[in-house]
This record gives sequence, C-alpha cells and structure tokens, in this order.
Amino acid sequence: MTRPILISPSILSADFARLGEEVRAIDAAGCDWVHIDVMDGHFVPNITIGPNVVKALRPHTQKTFDVHLMISPVDLYLDAFASAGADIITVHPEAGPHIHCTVQHIKSLGVKAGVVLNPGTPAKMLDYLMDDVDLILVMSVNPGFGGQSFIENQLRKIEAIRKMIDKTGRDIHLQVDGGIDVSTAPKAIAAGADVLVAGTATFRGGPDAYADNIRKLRGG
Ligand code: DX5
Ligand code: ZN
Repeated sequence: MTRPILISPSILSADFARLGEEVRAIDAAGCDWVHIDVMDGHFVPNITIGPNVVKALRPHTQKTFDVHLMISPVDLYLDAFASAGADIITVHPEAGPHIHCTVQHIKSLGVKAGVVLNPGTPAKMLDYLMDDVDLILVMSVNPGFGGQSFIENQLRKIEAIRKMIDKTGRDIHLQVDGGIDVSTAPKAIAAGADVLVAGTATFRGGPDAYADNIRKLRGG
C-alpha cells in the first residue's frame, strides 16, 4: 500500500537567532509539518525551547506544529504547549507516572496525542494505548541531540508497529525521528513509517537548499 509521506523538519537544526524566518523558509520549501523538540536538561541532557517560543513562532506558518516533549514531569506543561499553538503533542512514557492519563489529558485539550518510544523501549508499551493515540513516534537515536546516526534495529520496531496500526484500522501516523537522511529515509518508509522527522538533512546547505533537501527525503 502506498501512503503519502510527510516531512516534518526538526527546527533543532535551524538557526536559532532567526527562527521565525527559518520556519517560513521550510514552509515555503514544502515541508508538511514543523517538528519542535522541547528538552529540559533533565529528561535529556540538552535544553532547547519552551512554550513562549512555540507561541512566538505560531504566526509564521499555518503548518501543523508537531511538538515532541522531552521533559519530565511532562503533565504540568501540556496545557501551556496546547495554548501556545501545538497541533500534536508527543510524549515519552518514561516522562510521567501514568501514560494513559497523559494521553487523555492531551486529547482533552483538543490536540492530537502522540506517544514516542526510545530505542530501548519495546513496541509492547503501546498495547493498551492503540485505541487513543493519533501518532506513534519511533526514536531511531537516543533523544537529546541532532546529528546522531540512525540505529538500524529500530526498523524492526517500525515494522512491528505498522502491523499493530493496520490491525486497529485507525488512522494513526507512524513517525520516525533521528538520523533520517537520503539513505535511511527509504528504509524507514519501507518499514512502514509515513512521517519523517529530519533536522540535519533538512537544514543542510542553508535556505536555498531546503526545497531540494525536503524533496529528496520524500523520495522525489
Ligand atoms: C533528537 C530529536 C530529533 C533531532 C533529529 O532528540 O528528537 O528531532 O533533532 O535530528 P537529526 O535529523 O539531525 O537526527
Ligand atoms: Zn524530535
């Protein structure tokens, strides 16, 4: 089955001094979503951006804000990211005590709910969340930094989750994040992913290269 492939550039690799312009540039270059990596220096060893930055970026594009929260405890901040303009909020099960409650909380805010699995977290974690999630994210690197190498054994997890999704008959996105470039993107797609996050591979070469970079990731 062929499904449309969506590209969600991670603005972690953008020029932080010109974030609004960078978001407008990837929008004009044909990205589908905008992936926003939120890190707290505690759940992961890096600190990035908070809800105020998401709010400041919101007027710069109408594209879906795909917000990946790498913060713990996560529940306290869900409302702030929803009101800042997130369209999808994706959370790690390790970032709070009750992932099922966290997913319900996100949905109650009128936002789509994603669950993300670290490389060491098994697909089985999702068994009792499949009725509720809108997106599943497979990390193909350990979270914290851009520019790491794709961990190949995560392809097996993507394949397994693709089967789980198809069994539900629900419209659940299967996203992959970390080390996506022109050589790993086709493998992730073949394994069943339909949304590719790419930081380094999108922003490489500066604004003139973004459209070409995005087209190549999509396989075009
Ligand atoms: C890692 C982040 C990723 C990262 C991807 O913790 O979740 O979104 O920015 O960067 P690349 O595409 O450079 O691997
Ligand atoms: Zn991410």
